[in-house]
Amino acid sequence: FVHQLADESVGLRELLRSPLHASPAPALPLPADLYGPSRRNSGGVDLAEEAMLDPLLRALASTTVPVVPMAEPGDVAAAVAAARTAFAGWSSTPVERRGAILREAADAMQRELPHLCALLVREAFKTWGDAVAEVREAIDFLRYYSRQAERLMQPESLPGPTGESNELRLEGRGTWACISPWNFPLAIFTGQVAAALATGNTVVAKPAEQTPAIARETVTLLHAAGVPVAALRLLHGTGETVGAALVKADGIAGVVFTGSTEVARLIARSLADRDGPILPLIAETGGINAMLVDSTALPEQVADAVVQSAFRSAGQRCSALRLLCLHEGIADAVLEMVGGAARELACGDPGRLDTDVGPVIDATAYDNLRRHVGRLQREARACFPPAAPREALPNLVPPQAFEVKRVADVAQEVFGPVLHVVRWSGDPLALVDEINSLGWGLTLGVQTRIDSRAQAIAARARIGNVYVNRNMIGAVVGVQPFGGEGLSGTGPKAGGPHYLLRFCAERTVTVNT
Ligand code: NAD
Ligand code: ALA
Repeated sequence: FVHQLADESVGLRELLRSPLHASPAPALPLPADLYGPSRRNSGGVDLAEEAMLDPLLRALASTTVPVVPMAEPGDVAAAVAAARTAFAGWSSTPVERRGAILREAADAMQRELPHLCALLVREAFKTWGDAVAEVREAIDFLRYYSRQAERLMQPESLPGPTGESNELRLEGRGTWACISPWNFPLAIFTGQVAAALATGNTVVAKPAEQTPAIARETVTLLHAAGVPVAALRLLHGTGETVGAALVKADGIAGVVFTGSTEVARLIARSLADRDGPILPLIAETGGINAMLVDSTALPEQVADAVVQSAFRSAGQRCSALRLLCLHEGIADAVLEMVGGAARELACGDPGRLDTDVGPVIDATAYDNLRRHVGRLQREARACFPPAAPREALPNLVPPQAFEVKRVADVAQEVFGPVLHVVRWSGDPLALVDEINSLGWGLTLGVQTRIDSRAQAIAARARIGNVYVNRNMIGAVVGVQPFGGEGLSGTGPKAGGPHYLLRFCAERTVTVNT
């Protein structure tokens, strides 16, 4: 079993045959017009061809990461001014035309999938499996938001007294600052930008400084598809300099941010201190995500879900499992399986097809993890010996797990393949209360064979995405709207039906007829 689990959990060949984002296939029918070829791909139709591997490998061989010039804070005002000037033209472009342009960009991404994957492998150290899933997610965002905007932005006539007509209109607000993280440098970047553009806004985008080349490639695709150059401006630079200046810039109409809770707070303060209009902030932030496993759960299913959720993507997902809460009646059986599977994971060069866990993003992340693991080695019990990395590369952190005493011992999000485990007994709802009291609210896994218990836990949890009897990563656009509450974000949920509303101004026009 352990070998089978390790083989199935990763590996490009397996992934290409399996559904999108390693999630179970969503129950069809999906709203057919919200999805195009990428959804069909997710069913394993064309990408499942073995022939797909050759283009991917050729792209890797020919792809180098270009050096991208960084902006200065002094460049921000001109970028915002240009995007503001473009607002009149772009917001008055019919929503159907804007949508068609975004779908053209989606088609271009589909064609460029091997090259985009190669960039994700080279610049962000994604495994091939994660890279393919990320390009598909970016395509889904473009198609989903463009179709959503076409539905939402039709003027709505509202019934009123005779002699009056009343119409509710949704319109773009102006120029949005889109600030995105390195861990989904294509999908989250594209999702933010697509939502703003679909709703008639213009954009100044500030991607993470660790992954500028992927952002540049995406903007090039969007411009080539027909987004006016001035309507989508790209500023590279560090968060503390260019990001902070963008949030303070005169003329922005809102900020959409995905990243750490700490930076979200800085941005919220900066917006609160501004004179002039009160600006909306959409902040999607981190999480200490727990999985609650009761004594009725199936240990094999739990072990598979744990390995996927905690170690896939080197644990560098906001949704990743950090805190595994095992009922004491099942804990030893599950930990033995998780340890067996984790030791089988190949930790090494992300350019190899059979790599399961690549390096973490940079030396700073590696040092943070090393310090955290050092502390755990002194204060907690290692659940299994970590496997040695297969290759000697910088910033490789093998999957590992430590048993701590209490839920409250895990207070800070530490971004990597390091799992914390607690044993519990007694009332599962009391455990949910403890998890709630941490204040994070992004994802929760539940493993139980008692349906009523799963429902009671989901109802008690103050958590944005609850996954029962499966892994807890890889939310699918339009199927599992994604986003947290509390310390984990403001909402609305990305890839969900309410996301675009926050990008819009609502206007009611009443006419005396
Ligand atoms: P980060 O907060 O360090 O940086 C995110 C972005 O903000 C980057 O572009 C950065 O340059 C910019 N930035 C930094 N300081 C800034 C400032 N003072 N003003 C304006 N912009 C600033 O986060 P990260 O390390 O890039 O990403 C990892 C974090 O993102 C984790 O906490 C993870 O949980 C979170 N995340 C959340 C989601 C979600 O959907 N909830 C998704 C992915 C990542
Ligand atoms: N949306 C990503 C996931 O669900 C972060 O894993």
